[in-house]
Parts: sequence; C-alpha cells; structure tokens
Amino acid sequence: MVEEILTPPASSQTTARRGLSGHAHPQRLDEVESNHEERLTVPIEEFARVLGGGIVPGSIVLVGGDPGIGKSTLMLQMALEMAKRITVLYVSGEESERQIKMRSMRLLRQPDGEVAHPPQQMYLLTETNLDAIFEHVNALHPDLLIIDSIQTVYLPELDTGAGSITQVRECSSRLREAAKSSDMSVFVIGHVTKEGIIAGPRVLEHIVDTVLYLEGDRFLSFRLLRSVKNRFGATSEVGVFEMHEHGMVEVPNPSEAFLAERVATAPGSAIAVTMEGTRPLLVEIQGLTSPSSFGIPRRTPNGVDINRLLLITAVLTRRLGQRLGEQDIFVNVVGGLRIGEPAADLAIAAAIASSMRDVPVRADAVLIGEVGLSGELRWVGQMNARLNEAAKLGFRAAIVPRQVRRSEPWTKGIEIIEARSLREALKFALLEEKPQ
Ligand code: TYD
Ligand code: MG
Repeated sequence: MVEEILTPPASSQTTARRGLSGHAHPQRLDEVESNHEERLTVPIEEFARVLGGGIVPGSIVLVGGDPGIGKSTLMLQMALEMAKRITVLYVSGEESERQIKMRSMRLLRQPDGEVAHPPQQMYLLTETNLDAIFEHVNALHPDLLIIDSIQTVYLPELDTGAGSITQVRECSSRLREAAKSSDMSVFVIGHVTKEGIIAGPRVLEHIVDTVLYLEGDRFLSFRLLRSVKNRFGATSEVGVFEMHEHGMVEVPNPSEAFLAERVATAPGSAIAVTMEGTRPLLVEIQGLTSPSSFGIPRRTPNGVDINRLLLITAVLTRRLGQRLGEQDIFVNVVGGLRIGEPAADLAIAAAIASSMRDVPVRADAVLIGEVGLSGELRWVGQMNARLNEAAKLGFRAAIVPRQVRRSEPWTKGIEIIEARSLREALKFALLEEKPQ
C-alpha cells in the first residue's frame, strides 16, 4: 500500500502551455505542419541506434537501470559529445559539481593521456528543486536537459518527499510539458530500486516518449542499452557497450565480443543466434549437468528463463530419454546477456545434452530453433538475418528447423542443416560419442 496525497489540479499556466487550454480546435490532418522529424545526431552510434536514429527535439526520454550500472556515466558522456554543437544542461541531484567535473575529466581523457578541453556549451547544475531548475532552464535555453535523477528532484508545492510516487509522476509531467512547449529534449535518469515497480521508472513509462534500460551484470563489463518503448523508432533495439576505465566504450560487433573467450572443443557449449530488436546477436550458451547430492535436483538458469529451462529439460527427459532426473542443471549465457526468445531453445538443449553425454557440440555450427512439447523443432522469425550474422562471423553451418512453407531462399555462404525434431538436430549437432 502506498500513501498517495491528492494535489490541487495543475495550475492553469501549465495546461495553457500544452495548448490544452480549450482554445484548440480540430485541424485537418493535411494542414498540420510537420517538421520532417529533424533529429539531433548523436555521435555515439550504439546510442543513436537505440534512440531510432537520433534525439527528437521536444521529446522526453527515460534512462532506467540499477544503481551503479553506469547511467550517469553514459549520460555525461553523451552530454559531453552533444555539447560540442548544442547547449546542454546537466542537472544532478546526486553528485556535486566537483564530483561531476572529476568524472568528466576521466571521460575526456584521450588515449595518449591528454585530457581534452571540456566543450564550451556544457553546463552543470546541482539542484533538486524543480521550480528552481525551470528558472535556470528559462534563462539558459538549453537544447538538451539531463536530469540525474528523477528520484532526487521535487516540486515544493507537493507535500510528499522527493522520490515518492506523486513527486516522480508530477515532476516528469512538468518536464514533459517543458519539453513539448520549447523543443528542448529532456533525458531523465531513473533508478530501478527494489520497490522499483512503485516509486521507480515504471510509474513514468507512459508519461515519456522513449524508455531505455541500461542493464548488465555489475561484475561483468558489458552493458546493454535496450529500448522498451519508443515513439520514434523500433522497440527492443539494443546498443552494446563495455564499461572501461574511461567510460563506456561502444562494442560495434557484439557477437564477436561475446564469443571471444569460447573454448570450442569443450562439452557443454553451443552457439545460439538471438534477435535483439533488428539486430542478430550470436551468444554462447553453456550447460553443465552434475549428479545431485540431495533429493531434489536443482535447475539454475543464468540469463535464460527458468520456465524455458524446465520445458527443455522435460523434453530432453521424456522425448529423448536423457536421464536428467538425478542431475543438477546449470545454464549460463556468456557475457551477461538475458535471452527472452525461444529461438535459443535448441542451443540450450544442445548445451545440456552435450554436457550430459560429455561430447562437444560442432564448433563451426550455430543452433537455431524453438523446441515444442512433443520434441519437435519449430520455425522462428527473421531467419535470414540470423543466418547472415552467423555466416559473417565465419560459422560454416547452421542447424535449423525444417521449413514447412518455403518462402525465401536460404542465405548463401553457410551450410543449412534442416532438422524436424530435437532428436534429429542433436544428432547433427553433437560430435561422435567418445569411445568409453
Ligand atoms: P554510474 O554512472 O555512477 O552509475 P549509475 O549512475 O547508474 O548509478 O557508474 C558507476 C560505476 O561505473 C562505478 O562503479 C564506477 C564505474 N566507472 C567506470 O568503470 N569507468 C568510468 O569511466 C566511470 C566514470 C565509472
Ligand atoms: Mg548516477
């Protein structure tokens, strides 16, 4: 239960600014002026990709993520790049100017050790009172406003403290109005807390135009910036970064990075091709089975859905006669990626079976396909994009579900091995059993 304090209706001033004052009248669509979607180009390509090409003037973007994942670092880095051409105001309620300056110095350090001069149009402000922030905005007229974080700013006229649901919602509505009425783009950072669903970014997902989440394992260096809502581009697009000593570094070819440490000849490793938005990603899936020492065998997924794992385990047990009942099963997606789509089922099944039988999976093949309850292999979408990526990275074969309706020709440059069932696919995927 969350206490919610009712507030008097928003002042007439804010409604007037939104053009909702009662003076608007229906307009013919063909007479509405459009501004041809001029976007501010973002020089960080992985970032631009997630935004759908660049920053739309007058839009408001939420950047959410766990504390310490790198939101402030990424936003400051973007701000420093953007400030070379436009005026940027970075408002922080979390760190002092000096702390931000120190971080900027770190980010501005070039490979030769020299620290680049900060751009002239980059302004810092440490303030949490939103009314005061707006006063500065009206004086400075920035093209880009960054609020770090939405949980620290507050409107004094509301009776609740900063970070409460009322404040978070009211503050972001005000920011949205400011953005829409002046063509200023606004980025708000929001922490996902344990109570995230209540007081965190969730309550403002519908207020903003675009929602980006920065995710990744805090102990691994990869960071994924994922768009979960975007009024101006494709959703579920991802950008891949790596956290370095001097900020976030783009990973333009993530598949290669994810596969870098792979030991191809070890049992229990298979390559899946997963689609993240419009981008295919090759990831290594590792499986390990080990006799359970206690009554109930454990199923430990890391990066895959537990229900998918249980289903695949059940199919392997019932349809393929794998004796997994007395085995603990661990599945791990290398690189800290989280896979949601069933196209990785086959790779997960192969990794488990490979570990169980102690024979490696064909090192030069990728495995694509959803596993059905009767052990059949099911077709997945965007097959050619997946196959192209695999071919590009030098994989020679792809084990895929048998195509029922042959629509597009297969991708060239990679051998296609069609399998009707999981059993058949594993026969192709697993190398000969070792002689005992
Ligand atoms: P930060 O951006 O402060 O996280 P958030 O705003 O999401 O809470 O990132 C904090 C972590 O990033 C911290 O553990 C230090 C690390 N870091 C680097 O590894 N390299 C860098 O260049 C910077 C600035 C931070
Ligand atoms: Mg921060």
